Amino acid sequence: MDPYLTAKWVHILSSTILFGTGLGTALHLWLTHLSRDVAAIAVATRNTVRADWAFTLPSVIVQPMSGAVLIELAGYDWGEGWLVLALLLYGIAGICWLVVLKLQLRMRNFASEARAAGTALPEEYFRCARAWFWLGWPAFTAVIVIFWLMVNRPEL
Ligand code: HEM
Repeated sequence: MDPYLTAKWVHILSSTILFGTGLGTALHLWLTHLSRDVAAIAVATRNTVRADWAFTLPSVIVQPMSGAVLIELAGYDWGEGWLVLALLLYGIAGICWLVVLKLQLRMRNFASEARAAGTALPEEYFRCARAWFWLGWPAFTAVIVIFWLMVNRPEL
């Protein structure tokens, strides 16, 4: 198999896992959150955290690694504008994701404690959920722009 095409296949496959898992779990968690059903929220937050460890984290690592292989094999210059911008956006999305990950862990803990105690979700849970919601926008926008940069590779 051609090494370049193999690396590109891995890179594209990883990008679909990164974007698809993020979007799917975010939609599911947000809709469950809107239901205000504490037991459902406890399960959804727990499963979102699991999906992040199992799918998002590996693809977050594979993405730049396979990208680096593509750069070397194709002979791109690391200083090319589209690549620099993509790396910058990737960094921004990565920071948002790390904060989101921490918020999800807290949301999961608040929800499972409330479910065990049979109480309502605390105000702190709702603060985390709001921050989680708003951080998703820059992260997903950054990834959508990266997709565009990767496909078009504009001269910047
Ligand atoms: C993190 C650092 C990244 C680096 C260094 C990188 C690098 C590259 C390179 C060198 C190519 C090959 C372009 C060509 O075929 O000539 C490529 C293609 C591609 N990348 Fe990335 N990439 C990165 C992140 C991402 C991310 C985050 C996504 C989307 C989530 C993405 C999606 C794609 C796609 C879909 C292609 C195929 C484009 C095409 O063949 O037209 N990449 N990438």
